Amino acid sequence: MTQALKGKLALVTGASRGIGAAIAARLARDGASVIVHYASSSERAEAVVKEIRDAGGEAEAVGSNLSTLEGVRSLIDSLNAAFGGRFEGRLDILVNNAGTVEYGPFLDSSETSYDTHFNLNVRAPIELAKDAAARMVAAGWGRIINVGSAFGEAAPLPGVTLYIASKFALRGFTRGLSRELGKYGVTVNAVQPGPIDTELAPQPGTEDHATMIKLASVGRFGKPAEIAAAVAYLASPEAGYTTGESLTVDGGWIA
Ligand SMILES: NC(=O)c1ccc[n+]([C@@H]2O[C@H](COP(=O)([O-])OP(=O)(O)OC[C@H]3O[C@@H](n4cnc5c(N)ncnc54)[C@H](OP(=O)(O)O)[C@@H]3O)[C@@H](O)[C@H]2O)c1
Repeated sequence: MTQALKGKLALVTGASRGIGAAIAARLARDGASVIVHYASSSERAEAVVKEIRDAGGEAEAVGSNLSTLEGVRSLIDSLNAAFGGRFEGRLDILVNNAGTVEYGPFLDSSETSYDTHFNLNVRAPIELAKDAAARMVAAGWGRIINVGSAFGEAAPLPGVTLYIASKFALRGFTRGLSRELGKYGVTVNAVQPGPIDTELAPQPGTEDHATMIKLASVGRFGKPAEIAAAVAYLASPEAGYTTGESLTVDGGWIA
């Protein structure tokens, strides 16, 4: 186990499965103590925690619904007590990963679709970053990493218009905030995955799945661990000169 992140506290939102679970495992492997956040899947989050502990890492699970401001606040309120309060109010690495998508034509979208996308994909990362940034500025070091999407860079397919709008917003937030925090030793970056093999993405056997593969230069879906590797770089002490960047990891999907 490498220990580049030893002594650092990391929060990964939406870490009970998919990309978030892989990021949590990777940051823990790199030495960080990881808060494995989930919305409702406490059992799956506990399984991620167990896997990390079995591998010699440190993790604990916290649940909250980040679609609501109350849920965001309850997650923030839990931070000081993480790992028995050992980090004394510090949060070194924030990975805003939790996100959602509704598929279908924009003209058929419901009145709630805007809130569904923007409350979780944009407002929650903004509110969490606001709290985390204050902690990081006080400590003189920090890493904020937003998990966007290749759909935050381009619109290669129809049927995900509000998701695209939310991920473009997250990319804009990443760049703007990086300008404000750089002088405090805090970097703000995004990783923008292409199609990754998780429950959120089109499933094998569907037309959408086949189209996704056709668009990818490497001819396959990516693995959650391939996104986690990019996050691990941006979280590392070595990445202090990279900020305001949105790193697309998509197998050449929008090349
Ligand atoms: N998979 C892809 O192809 C792909 C491509 C580009 C970008 N992304 C982005 O990558 C991120 C992770 O995606 P994924 O594919 O790993 O998704 P996923 O497998 O659907 O997992 C979503 C995670 O977010 C949590 N979550 C869902 N609703 C929530 C809420 N209201 N409040 C708090 N947490 C909530 C889930 O918790 P529970 O398990 O408790 O529900 C779960 O841990 C998202 O931001 C997504 O937009 C994914």
